[in-house]
Amino acid sequence: MAKQKVFVTRIIAQQALDKIARETDMELWQEELPPPYEVLLEKARDAEGLLTLLTDRIDATLMDAAPGLKVVSNLAVGYDNIDVAEATKHGILVGNTPEVLTETTADLAFALLMAAARRVAEADNYTRKRRWKTWGPKVMLGQDIHHATLGIIGLGRIGSGLAKRARGFEMKVLYYDEIERSKEEDRKLGVERVSGLAELLSRADFISVHVPLTEETRHLIGSDEFAMMKPSAVFINTSRGPVVDQKALYEALKSGQIFAAALDVTEVEPISPDDPLLTLNNIIITPHIASASVATREKMALMAADNLLAGLRGKIPPNCVNPEVLGG
Ligand code: DGY
Repeated sequence: MAKQKVFVTRIIAQQALDKIARETDMELWQEELPPPYEVLLEKARDAEGLLTLLTDRIDATLMDAAPGLKVVSNLAVGYDNIDVAEATKHGILVGNTPEVLTETTADLAFALLMAAARRVAEADNYTRKRRWKTWGPKVMLGQDIHHATLGIIGLGRIGSGLAKRARGFEMKVLYYDEIERSKEEDRKLGVERVSGLAELLSRADFISVHVPLTEETRHLIGSDEFAMMKPSAVFINTSRGPVVDQKALYEALKSGQIFAAALDVTEVEPISPDDPLLTLNNIIITPHIASASVATREKMALMAADNLLAGLRGKIPPNCVNPEVLGG
């Protein structure tokens, strides 16, 4: 029997590729940049499975053009690049890679928090630019992290990981989430639920966003929200760029409405080299690397391979966001 056709949109961990290649007729996109949409559309036409990244748009047009498509396995916990409602209508299973990247992502969120508060990137630049003349009582003053108040927007897996790290620095941790948690869970994690976003924004010294991108969370943080923050506030986003109105962030940083920010994600990725945010010293921008450790990327790739292979066999993938496709 002919093997099932699969298109993998980028080179991922070799172990995962070997696993897929053993069982399928795999085609691998070997370029550094993602396949253009037209190419993806063409490859999907006769594919039964796609292994995609968050840079690949999987929409209704593509699904209409791919009558044999059974499964789209996304190498990411987030899946806003895929129209899941359409996938479900088309009977296509969608897999993602939760859990394995939680700690690695929380590590980067905390690293960004610390780096922005203590101006690490700016200070390194200052040294390289030979501006370090002497020890100065007012040179590169930042904000204290220990005993400060951290506000977490979205206390899911990664937000909780950040809360655990904050405890080590004796921070007070507030959170805002629409999902109810028990008082016992909050007590164990050492977090306090606030009544609303406004309370979190006005009380926190550090604000970190951990929500998925949906129509409800698009521009969740804009000029009104920055206006509620303290002038000493440090803002961190490792979730999805469009959750933040970047123009409003620029104004808030430029005018000193808030102290600093750190982003691992931007509204458009990669950020344009002409983006005004890049002219500011009080922001750190990393290129969407929160899950980028050697070990975690390997685990994500293996998980994505397992999701793909399960879907091809007509089973619900171990991590599936629309199991209802198979009555799950
Ligand atoms: C995800 O998994 O959604 C991250 O943004 C990339 O690891």
